Amino acid sequence: MMPQSYSVTIQILLLLLVLPQTKADLNSEKQALLDFIDAVHHGEKVNWSFSTSICTSWVGISCSPDGSHVCSVRLPGIGLRGSLPENTIGKLHGLVGLSLRSNTLSGNLPSDIFSLPSLRFLYLQHNNFSGHIPDNLPPHLMFLDLSYNSFTGKIPSIIQSLTFLIGLDLQNNSLIGPIPNVVDLPNLKSLNLSFNYLNGSIPSGFHKFHASSFKGNLMLCGAPLKQFSLASSTPILSPLIVSQKVPSDISNKKLNTWTKVAIALGVLAVMLIPVVIVVFCCFKKKVGEQNVTPKEKGEKLIMEEFGSGVQTNERNRLMFFEGCCYNFDLDDLLRASAEVLGKGSCGTTYKAILEEGTILVVKRLKEVAVVKREFEQQMEIVQRLDHHPNVVRPLAYYYSKDEKLMVYDYFTTGSFSKLLHGSSEMGRTPLDWDSRLKIMAGAAKGIAHIHSANGRKLVHGNIKSSNVLLSIDLQGSISDFGLTPLTSLCVSPKSPPGYQAPEVNESRKSTQKSDVYSFGVLLLEMLTGKTPAQYSGHDDVVDLPKWVQSVVREEWTAEVFDLELMRYPNIEEELVQMLQLAMACVAVMPDTRPSMEEVVKMIEDIRASIY
Ligand SMILES: *[C@@H]1O[C@H](CO)[C@@H](O)[C@H](O)[C@H]1NC(C)=O
Ligand SMILES: *[C@@H]1O[C@H](CO)[C@@H](O)[C@H](O)[C@H]1NC(C)=O
Ligand SMILES: *[C@@H]1O[C@H](CO)[C@@H](O)[C@H](O)[C@H]1NC(C)=O
Ligand SMILES: *[C@@H]1O[C@H](CO)[C@@H](O)[C@H](O)[C@H]1NC(C)=O
Ligand SMILES: *[C@@H]1O[C@H](CO)[C@@H](O)[C@H](O)[C@H]1NC(C)=O
Repeated sequence: MMPQSYSVTIQILLLLLVLPQTKADLNSEKQALLDFIDAVHHGEKVNWSFSTSICTSWVGISCSPDGSHVCSVRLPGIGLRGSLPENTIGKLHGLVGLSLRSNTLSGNLPSDIFSLPSLRFLYLQHNNFSGHIPDNLPPHLMFLDLSYNSFTGKIPSIIQSLTFLIGLDLQNNSLIGPIPNVVDLPNLKSLNLSFNYLNGSIPSGFHKFHASSFKGNLMLCGAPLKQFSLASSTPILSPLIVSQKVPSDISNKKLNTWTKVAIALGVLAVMLIPVVIVVFCCFKKKVGEQNVTPKEKGEKLIMEEFGSGVQTNERNRLMFFEGCCYNFDLDDLLRASAEVLGKGSCGTTYKAILEEGTILVVKRLKEVAVVKREFEQQMEIVQRLDHHPNVVRPLAYYYSKDEKLMVYDYFTTGSFSKLLHGSSEMGRTPLDWDSRLKIMAGAAKGIAHIHSANGRKLVHGNIKSSNVLLSIDLQGSISDFGLTPLTSLCVSPKSPPGYQAPEVNESRKSTQKSDVYSFGVLLLEMLTGKTPAQYSGHDDVVDLPKWVQSVVREEWTAEVFDLELMRYPNIEEELVQMLQLAMACVAVMPDTRPSMEEVVKMIEDIRASIY
């Protein structure tokens, strides 16, 4: 069901990144690996033997697409013990990735491994390797993780020129001396040198990293550390005091450090404030405050101020969905304080705080022009859909000629869109791979539930990252089910297609397969970290699926993935499989796309296949 050409191209992407190949003899690589495994103590899981096919049935081994050489060796956490001999793994001249993390390997690492020219991923953390890190590291190295070992000596100065480096983890070793004078490693996203014996000052190229990347080196100084890190265990000044100090003497050079600390703490404080408010204040203080001076807050308003079309008589009351357990009525809603959460083409969404503290989301579908019967029929469909943890259920609705409201629970964590893209660069919290997978799995289940209900006739019609809402433990839930038939008429035709399947742009009619397409775009958004609306390709503006296709087809680089994800070790396979799945979902021909149930199963398989 997956287009064959993608399987092949993406496999190449995994196996990675274009290597000039001297035609190596696969048999000699086989022998080299057998020599390696004979030299170390290992468990039963390693089922290598000369008589079986190295590329297809050796655990932990992947080969290049043409099967001419081994390109990745992954044996994490399988009880390897002993030291690595020369002339074993070091003979795999096409090796791109090596992971031997979380074993109890020890001794010096043979220098021929460090000098494999093609190596890009080296994960040896959580072993007991010792000796020096040599000064001839592979030039294209992207990830180097030697943390939690017993390496000694200096950090080699060659790291200054490893411009492809994305992640460098050397924490918890016994490294000494100064940090090489790094001016700029443009791709470096993750750095940890903590708990070594480094001394001297932190080079300018590393100032952008957090102090916790350097802690536990008692003789290290300079930004972002306060002074000598000896002092870093004493409590830091409160954010308030630090930020007050800054403007008083800007010309003082020392202040640079302070400014950075202040900014960092300021940003942290700003990030925390909303959370703190929501968690602690909304339910108590705020409500009282709002009773006294409701109009003082500029952005706040009272629901009643917009609810002019609401008629509070018997015939026009709030209609609750079955099973809703809230105890509020229309008057409560109109008295609530409100805050704009977002504006869509059909109206505005508010966060409403009831007087007794309950927080709700109210969607005001002002531009929706449907008669009452049609609106009620749609609500009936929503009502009949069985409860599912991954589908957001409305609590109530209100219909009058001039005003239509939908009332929902408030999700403190917000939407996937908000979490992934943040409001500003500083405000974005990194979203790790496990969380992303979990959210996508939840969203997929929610859509599959909708598709399976009511004789398989239901369609969502508006799958996008802002319609995936998140609980505190990051369960993804699909919201806005049932609204598309009401809102599709007010979607302004000028808005970029983004998530919309090509056939819907013409027919304007959503189908289950067009939901699958939109979900595929959502997956691409998750993988690339890019918003799907429009993305600039080589010569013109293209949408996200086309952009990804062009990158995968023409350049063969890992650049397609969100750099943020490159911080997490050992997920390349999952990344590539998810990319493969996303590509199948955004196939141009609707019939070739998988069904949502198949998508759910594939996501679960991707997780299960990783040991
Ligand atoms: C070795 O183990 C892997 C994964 O467990 C399996 O796929 C493969 O078939 C096994 N090979 C042999 C020769 O048993
Ligand atoms: C790690 O190796 C060093 C010698 O290089 C040894 O002293 C130490 O005990 C080893 N640690 C563990 C946990 O095996
Ligand atoms: C790293 O080193 C620090 C300081 O010695 C220690 O507190 C911490 O437990 C170490 N971490 C691990 C995982 O060994
Ligand atoms: C750092 O430590 C090394 C020895 O470990 C010493 O030779 C050097 O002078 C120290 N440098 C600084 C700046 O303290
Ligand atoms: C670096 O590693 C240390 C010790 O393992 C940890 O406490 C610290 O949070 C890490 N810092 C970063 C930025 O990852």
